[in-house]
Amino acid sequence: KSHKIAVIAGDGIGPEVISEGVKVLKAVSKLNPEINFEFTDFPWGCEYYVKTGKMIADDGMETLKKFDAIYLGAVGYPGVPDHISLWGLLLKIRKGFDQYINLRPVKLLNGAECPLKNVDRSQIDMVVIRENSEGEYAGAGDWLFKGKPEEVVLQTGVFSRKGCERVIRYAYELARKEGKTLTSISKANALNYSMVFWDEVFEEIGKEYPDVKTYSYLVDAACMFFVKQPERFQIVVTSNLFGDIVTDLGAAIAGGLGLAAGANLNPERTFPSMFEPVHGSAPDIAGQGKANPLAAIWSVSQMLDFFGYENWGKAVLDAIEKVMVEKKFLTPDMGGTSKTNEVGDAVVKALEEI
Ligand code: NAI
Ligand code: MG
Repeated sequence: KSHKIAVIAGDGIGPEVISEGVKVLKAVSKLNPEINFEFTDFPWGCEYYVKTGKMIADDGMETLKKFDAIYLGAVGYPGVPDHISLWGLLLKIRKGFDQYINLRPVKLLNGAECPLKNVDRSQIDMVVIRENSEGEYAGAGDWLFKGKPEEVVLQTGVFSRKGCERVIRYAYELARKEGKTLTSISKANALNYSMVFWDEVFEEIGKEYPDVKTYSYLVDAACMFFVKQPERFQIVVTSNLFGDIVTDLGAAIAGGLGLAAGANLNPERTFPSMFEPVHGSAPDIAGQGKANPLAAIWSVSQMLDFFGYENWGKAVLDAIEKVMVEKKFLTPDMGGTSKTNEVGDAVVKALEEI
């Protein structure tokens, strides 16, 4: 079967890490000739913005719609305000294609560094499901009396029944399928409308899943337990803002940003889903071959899972782990001296040997 993949490498280290992920997909296709990928590159991002005043071509969303998946590096560029690059491309795609599930594995692989002491490494193994279409990042608000003494800004969270139900239901389904516990992270004591509603929906839907053991944490307490007792968490579901924050914390306990991957899924497959490393464009190391491609390669593993090739998704993850355990080819952020493309080559080689 052939899968059409739109590649938006983006800015900074984006193109450097994405080419390694593409390399790994090509290796999968070579090892299994029944799986094929057709890649199409798009130049969108901040450099494109500097030239054209747009983050994406006018007909960009129409064009992307025809693909099976989007593989994105990172956007962000000194001189272009971050809210322009974020809203102009990333959020445009996430929202426009109703990618309401942001799936972020927080799994400590062998060979990865963990800053936590006195925890069982094998127990840092969770999947965080972040609501990805509304909530605190709905973009609703107002800016009143700008520059005046009575200036006031409002940033409103939007939590629709449909929006909450679908992400929470997705989480219950995953917990049931994997036989794992499900934890909801919210903050109903302080956010007396949105999070009270969230908790109610979590409980309501739970009635359909009596076989799934559930927990509910306030976000501040959850942050503490991520660090003190990460073994408490297996499948986690949370809102857009809280998910953004706890997954960076998750990345920190599971080997760092160089390893963190995230999938933006439209589970109904009405629109393409998007796969990307969690990190940004890292302008401080761009163009030097220092970028760690493992996060981008992990997101390729997620793409393979989503296409239904779970055994290949797992093989790619095993190959990443093998490279990390061997410690022969690692980028400087992981204590090595290898270049980005050497790490990509090592993953391909490990994959061929699995
Ligand atoms: P960043 O993730 O780009 O970098 C943070 C630190 O981690 C830097 O020291 C960087 O060198 C290091 N780092 C990141 N990825 C790495 C990798 N693969 N290998 C080795 N080291 C790595 O975050 P920062 O500096 O806050 O943002 C830089 C730009 O990226 C900004 O314009 C920001 O808006 C954008 N950004 C874009 C994202 C996206 O496209 N999804 C996500 C986060 C930030
Ligand atoms: Mg973030």
